[in-house]
Amino acid sequence: MASSKGLIFAIIFAVLTIVKPSEAALDAHYYDRSCPAAEKIILETVRNATLYDPKVPARLLRMFFHDCFIRGCDASILLDSTRSNQAEKDGPPNISVRSFYVIEDAKTKLEKACPRTVSCADVIAIAARDVVTLSGGPYWSVLKGRKDGTISRANETVNLPAPTFNVSQLIQSFAARGLSVKDMVTLSGGHTLGFSHCSSFESRLQSFSKFHDIDPSMNFAFAQSLKKKCPRSNRGKNAGMVLDSTNSVFDNDYYKQILSGKGVFGSDQVLLGDSRTKWIVETFAHNQKAFFREFAVSMVNLGNFGVKESGQVRVNTRFIN
Ligand code: HEM
Repeated sequence: MASSKGLIFAIIFAVLTIVKPSEAALDAHYYDRSCPAAEKIILETVRNATLYDPKVPARLLRMFFHDCFIRGCDASILLDSTRSNQAEKDGPPNISVRSFYVIEDAKTKLEKACPRTVSCADVIAIAARDVVTLSGGPYWSVLKGRKDGTISRANETVNLPAPTFNVSQLIQSFAARGLSVKDMVTLSGGHTLGFSHCSSFESRLQSFSKFHDIDPSMNFAFAQSLKKKCPRSNRGKNAGMVLDSTNSVFDNDYYKQILSGKGVFGSDQVLLGDSRTKWIVETFAHNQKAFFREFAVSMVNLGNFGVKESGQVRVNTRFIN
């Protein structure tokens, strides 16, 4: 019975995946001749940075998501602001995206090994895969050949989904990037890693609505523990909450937490309250293997969005050539 159920889910996911359009002609072997050491250099850089700072994996995974969502995966998130232009990096949702130095470090090494060859956008995509695998999650073959963007605008970060979004808004936001409902629920599983500041979820903890002080979809004891972490006064700048109980391990705990009303963001918990997404949350909460398999597929889909196949390979991550 359990295995026939598993087979049915596998077929549904396969159908959802097949109908997904893929815009870019990227290639898993893109640097095989031009820079055969590329992936090894990136992996070593990311691994060393993670040993030194365990926050690196979550930050690099989120960086990839934000980069792809704003102008397609083109490393526009790495560009510095100038006197006449405030860049994405300095847009409000990106202020807490850190660890840019890890990508810069990998790129510096790549420029020595194979100058002007590996794009910054590909470095982010490979690093995002590596941090997932290093944290215990799946491995997948990253498609490569992206070129780097030359435009980066802070005001475009308003287009990132907000933690207050309902399911329809989430679906719409992902669909605008060619991503399915399945991709959306699966990629939200990125919240198996990392941390959130109080400001991202505290609207759920007081004056939530006309009828409820606390978001009623939230486990009551969990809400009390979040309130304790986020006192209104005397709060440190880094006050907040880990996104799941095993937040340095890539696993399916995020979905289990949602089942028990312990999703940190409204946008996490709403996935259980809508028939379009509930079944996916339940599947992943019970079947980590299915989550891992689908996460790999959805990360490739995310990495295909808005890819530039012509343009420049930036020499410096922070400036256009
Ligand atoms: C579905 C829509 C999403 C929303 C509304 C959302 C929102 C957020 C918010 C508000 C934070 C906390 C920021 C802070 O307070 O510091 C966060 C953190 C994070 N998000 Fe998302 N996110 C979404 C999807 C994703 C996706 C698709 C990924 C990756 C595949 C992802 C990966 C992460 C990670 C790893 C963190 C922790 C970052 C850290 O510890 O520094 N998120 N997200």
